[in-house]
Amino acid sequence: MTDMPKKLRLAVLASGGGTNLQSMIDRCAEGSMAAEVAVVLSDRPDANALNRAEKAGIPAFCVDYKSYMGLEVTEEVLGNLPISLEELDRSQQILKAPDSLQRLRRLARLILAERGLTDIIDRFRPDYICLAGFMRLVTPYFIGHFNSSGAHRIINIHPALLPSFPGTRGYEDTFIYGCKWGGITIHFVDEGEDTGPIIAQAVYPVFPGDRIEQVRARGLRLEYEMYAQVINWLACNHIELEALPSGRLHVQVSDPQYADILKKWVRLSFAQPNS
Ligand code: GAR
Repeated sequence: MTDMPKKLRLAVLASGGGTNLQSMIDRCAEGSMAAEVAVVLSDRPDANALNRAEKAGIPAFCVDYKSYMGLEVTEEVLGNLPISLEELDRSQQILKAPDSLQRLRRLARLILAERGLTDIIDRFRPDYICLAGFMRLVTPYFIGHFNSSGAHRIINIHPALLPSFPGTRGYEDTFIYGCKWGGITIHFVDEGEDTGPIIAQAVYPVFPGDRIEQVRARGLRLEYEMYAQVINWLACNHIELEALPSGRLHVQVSDPQYADILKKWVRLSFAQPNS
């Protein structure tokens, strides 16, 4: 363990507005995050995250998933895949369609799109791949590409207290269920949907009369702070993975300031907007 932060190179993947990305760009520029956003990628050409990256002078690319999802999966396409689909289907936990041909076709399309991503990402040699509002499932092909030799290099932020409310509607699901506390989770990505080893979690209150917009704004303020902290922990080698006898991987954070950081997140979760 060392406290000397190494500046990490990040590839950030985003599908939407990119406020998490913006927070990273700003914090890297002001020096409060020991990292550099080396490249930004999106699955949609209209993602504002791409504009934010370009404005900051960061290389930005779109791999348009829509065009891949409509692709006809011919024998030739199948023959050109970088991996055996059957093998991949055995290890994946995200596609549940009972029809195996349907599953394999969907997997093939996802892998082709992911190969578009990995080809670009590799050119920028990032230390970590940060999903920041990337609304696509990633397959074991993508995960295996970056996690060779036991490394865990893909991180996701999810706007709910996992394992509650996985998926793409974390704030809405928390709010509609009537939860009195919402949460944010940052985790390493594994083969399931939002099931990977948890690195950090924090909660925020949901007050009577709150609207979903207020809940989301409260949560997003935490997201920005937490993502920066997790990257700083990684940069300082404060994060270790421990395999439990059950097989589940647990993250141990060895920061002496850990309790103070959690208290800071609690205070932030109660702070008024703009304070
Ligand atoms: C964030 O709330 C992030 O946690 C969520 O998307 C939003 C992106 O906002 N991610 C997921 O729901 C992943 N399943 P942003 O584009 O403004 O950063």
